[in-house]
Amino acid sequence: MLEGKFVVLGVTGSIAAYKSAELVRLLKKQGALVQVIMTESACEFIKPLTFQVLSQNQVITDMFREPSKWEVEHVALADRADLVLIAPATANIIAKIAAGIADDMLTTTILATRAKVVVVPAMNVHMYEHPITQRNIQRLKESGIEVMKPAEGFLACGYTGKGRFPEPADIVKFVDSIVGRAQDLKGKTVLITAGPTREPVDPVRFISNHSSGKMGYALARQAVLRGARVVLISGPTSIDPPAGLYKFIPVETALEMEKAVLENFTQAHVVIKAAAVADFRPKNYNPGKIKKQGGGMVIELVKNPDILQELGEKKQHQVLVGFAAETDEPEKNAKEKLERKNLDFIVLNDVTQEGAGFGSDTNIVKIIYRDGRTEILPKMLKRDVADAILDRVLPYLN
Ligand code: C5P
Repeated sequence: MLEGKFVVLGVTGSIAAYKSAELVRLLKKQGALVQVIMTESACEFIKPLTFQVLSQNQVITDMFREPSKWEVEHVALADRADLVLIAPATANIIAKIAAGIADDMLTTTILATRAKVVVVPAMNVHMYEHPITQRNIQRLKESGIEVMKPAEGFLACGYTGKGRFPEPADIVKFVDSIVGRAQDLKGKTVLITAGPTREPVDPVRFISNHSSGKMGYALARQAVLRGARVVLISGPTSIDPPAGLYKFIPVETALEMEKAVLENFTQAHVVIKAAAVADFRPKNYNPGKIKKQGGGMVIELVKNPDILQELGEKKQHQVLVGFAAETDEPEKNAKEKLERKNLDFIVLNDVTQEGAGFGSDTNIVKIIYRDGRTEILPKMLKRDVADAILDRVLPYLN
């Protein structure tokens, strides 16, 4: 995947900087064109000449020490890059990227590029695990930057733990998978529903569920990163919609969601229904706040339309993916839904498991296909579950 790609490799001041020499060699072996940028402190650990020889290219060390041409060239370089890889990345550079600081050639390039940015942290275990570093890493991820997990083991500082620079071959593998899938949804319109719906009882009360919207938003974000035109139709959530959406349509009720979904269905190539649509709504909406009275109270509910089932009936070329969150006989119920709603596959959340389902940042899912095949995925971040789902959509598109 790296053949002919222009890779900007940022090397920062970590003792692991010397291992990046091997990384350059491997990237070159894969056919990449490599432009190394070293921060000032990286130059304390390893000489630019090493990278110059291995990359067969001039090494950029500092934009302000070099003739002023770099001040203009960082934009040209940022534009030309197919990938910006920062390896090793210190806690310092991670913090700078998270804060949007651009005070040297590397940080200006990172901010100016529209290419994929991949960060490979390498640092002392305590620095890595520090809540500030973890928060910064989270911010990078939220901005669409890929952060590779450091390896565990002996660290140069004498400690043992997380923070080790991964083997260069593993970094190349990681980068390769990202470049490979980078734009695999280009030209496709992906409609995603997310979050709960709210079914009003009176002006102050509603019936809803625990859906946070995180799974649907993660799907939307990854689909955007993979080049899709994404229409996100979302019930009320407390999270920000991802950047780069083609359309964001906020809705409240199942009926509003139904209308928005149907309006956008024909142009969609893929529909992923991650929303937890309320199955029932109060039959009557009380225009005034219902008063406390003696005794109990009965709210009569009527069935909401099953949006996905409607789509299943209307389906032409669209790939249809549903979600199922069940507590009892999950597989049997999911299979039944897959058939009834005419889906290509269904993603089953077991909401009773720790680290799965509502509100959590991770999810544990099973994917069930029409031919009866079942695939069990390990516990992963919702972002990675989203990519796994999109990976499985691809064969249906081709
Ligand atoms: O609620 P249920 O378990 O049947 O949800 C399965 C799938 O159907 C989900 O993908 C959900 O978004 C969708 N659904 C829907 N309209 C409903 C209920 C569920 O589109 N009224």
